[in-house]
Amino acid sequence: MSDPSRPVTYDELGCVGLIRIDNPPVNALNHEVRIRLADAIMRATKNPQIKAVLIISGGNMFSAGADLKEFDAPLAEPSLQQLQNALETAPVPVVAALSGLALGGGLELALACHYRIAHKDAKVGLPEITLGIVPGAGGTQRMPRLIGSRAALEMILSGAPITAADAKAKGLVDEVVDGDLRDSAIEFCERLVHDGLGPRPTRNLTVSDNLDESTISEILRADARALKGRTTQKLAVDAIKAATLPFAEGIAIEAAIANKSLASRESLALRHVFFAERESGKVEAVPQPTKQPEMNRVAIVGAGTMGSGIAMAFADAGRSVALIDNDNAALTRSRDAVRSNYASGVKRGRLSQENADERMGRISYSTDLAAATEADIAIEAVFEDMDLKKKVLSRLDSILSADRLIATNTSTLSVTELGRATAHPNRVLGLHFFVPAQASKLLEIVRGKDTGFDTLAAALHVAKVLKKIPVVSGDAFGFIGNRMMLDGYFREAEQLLLEGASPQQVDTALEEFGFAMGPQRVSDLGGNDVGSKVRIQLHKRERRSDPYFVIADRLTELGRLGQKTGRGFYRYPEGGRDAFPDPDVDELIEGLAAERSIVRREISDEEIVERCVLALINVGAMVLDEGIAARASDVDVVWTSGYGFPRYLGGPMFYADTLSLEHVVKRIRHYHEKLGHYRRPASLIERLAAENSTFEQWDRRPRKGAVLTPAL
Ligand code: COA
Repeated sequence: MSDPSRPVTYDELGCVGLIRIDNPPVNALNHEVRIRLADAIMRATKNPQIKAVLIISGGNMFSAGADLKEFDAPLAEPSLQQLQNALETAPVPVVAALSGLALGGGLELALACHYRIAHKDAKVGLPEITLGIVPGAGGTQRMPRLIGSRAALEMILSGAPITAADAKAKGLVDEVVDGDLRDSAIEFCERLVHDGLGPRPTRNLTVSDNLDESTISEILRADARALKGRTTQKLAVDAIKAATLPFAEGIAIEAAIANKSLASRESLALRHVFFAERESGKVEAVPQPTKQPEMNRVAIVGAGTMGSGIAMAFADAGRSVALIDNDNAALTRSRDAVRSNYASGVKRGRLSQENADERMGRISYSTDLAAATEADIAIEAVFEDMDLKKKVLSRLDSILSADRLIATNTSTLSVTELGRATAHPNRVLGLHFFVPAQASKLLEIVRGKDTGFDTLAAALHVAKVLKKIPVVSGDAFGFIGNRMMLDGYFREAEQLLLEGASPQQVDTALEEFGFAMGPQRVSDLGGNDVGSKVRIQLHKRERRSDPYFVIADRLTELGRLGQKTGRGFYRYPEGGRDAFPDPDVDELIEGLAAERSIVRREISDEEIVERCVLALINVGAMVLDEGIAARASDVDVVWTSGYGFPRYLGGPMFYADTLSLEHVVKRIRHYHEKLGHYRRPASLIERLAAENSTFEQWDRRPRKGAVLTPAL
């Protein structure tokens, strides 16, 4: 058991000084840990009886690195660099024993030790780049000295951890062991002492290879997609290049570059998203259950694309799934789709044939709803039709014992109304999966008016099981994501088309801004008919006035459904994915604009981006004020993990804060005065702007929104 008052302990085992870091959950190297590490290092190195020092973790993770919560203020001493100096210049050999993960500052601490031994299941890496940071505790200087500049650049730019075996092959660790790491590491230390092997400071090594410009551009190109629009990678290259200088000079350059990266807007945004993603799984007033509910057996009703994807998501998570559909042909199609999906995973080397077979074997197919009887959770994913869904939910309610969870995978219907079709509406909620359900990161959890807290807690656990990022939404038009997309972002994009922009101009401008894909390309990919159907359903809840997707709806009427029909907002020759502009679409848009007496004009890319993003922010503020989302940071998570908003801008609400809400409200008013219609500034933005406040500050205010209100 770890003792929170003693995050670092020091013991002497014969000639070995054993330093144990025990700071759950991730052994972050915070100020308290650094103070105690400094003390332990001093005790070990001052005792002449101690001939080797071992640093090990008390838990199952060596360390996730520096404490990110300390990054917003100057770091208090002792710094990690001071500890590393003490270790690297120690008179006796220092060994790091790596278990679980050794990331960031955790790995950097180990690189300053003289030897590294790792458990075979350990992984090591420098993930700082994913947070917009250049490693600043010697990572860019010691790693190239150990494994060469090229390999270091690849590891630092990708940020992905590598296995212990890879680390050994590269020369990052000296020995990989199976079994008990502590025993093996002590033995390793005793061997060093016995063999008279002394300190081996990494700083004294020289870098074996030089980074030339063609190698750098080759590696940057390979990572281009992940690093799109980012600036940290260029800073990382400069830091790694400095590793060929004398250590003291290189480390000073690294420190300056790391500080610069820490202060960058990109890093602030990425760190915001990191914490927002962890926060979104916590719902105030939802008790942390002492025991997580069983989620071993899952029933899914409806074997369409969604049902099959959800089945794969659970099978991937090791759960057994009963996939139920009353149509045998639908089950056959689903089985084929699942098989072909796993086959393509095997072909691409993402999983072995054995893994794929195991996962497929976890899914059983049935036409009988009774196959759901023993399920811990049942999810209905049938056609988006209120009566049909009610029927399925009520039958599930009658066959499942009352402590089991029932979810509806609706994207448009009222979860409250669906729940009330059962005798236990408190155990019903919405799980809004995104396509493809087996791969998408986001899971919107929709809380109906009657959904109980324990049901919500169980659903948050489901997200964990599936390794998805949960965001809780109130039960309203489009929930969080689709509401902002339809009422704000996509709607403004359509309006811009009517006013004179072309689909490719709108898409390119927003892709340049950082969106993964522009709105028209997204519509063509998902199917314009799918969008039209969703809107028809949603409009049964609340109507919207014209113009509201008149172009997409007309394309649907014309059978221009997108990529799947080879024509949509664009042309896709020979069923390909490359989008080409289509003069017929331009003509169609001009006609629709004329019908509405819209005078077309030249529109700048800046106006396109500004209007679309402001619309997104504005509706986001309404969603917050109405209590549909609990936190602005939840809205950011929805948009960065589910709708392609660039992470490095932090999500729409964080981005609004960086623009300043005073500026945001001024610009929304400007467009409202100029273009009128639906663009009235959201009251929440006006209020916050008047107080010179931010969404971030709003998140910290105590309040109870609809999402958080206990069930009546
Ligand atoms: N500093 C401070 N807190 C950290 C942290 C860090 N470096 N790494 C993780 N945490 C916190 C999380 O915020 C979370 O806190 P919470 O329980 O209050 O929400 C908790 O530790 C557990 O982390 P979580 O991500 O939920 O656990 P996980 O098992 O899914 O993942 C890691 C563990 C280590 C893989 C993941 O947390 C991670 O990638 N951390 C960042 C590592 C990194 O970038 N290090 C370099 C820092 S410069």
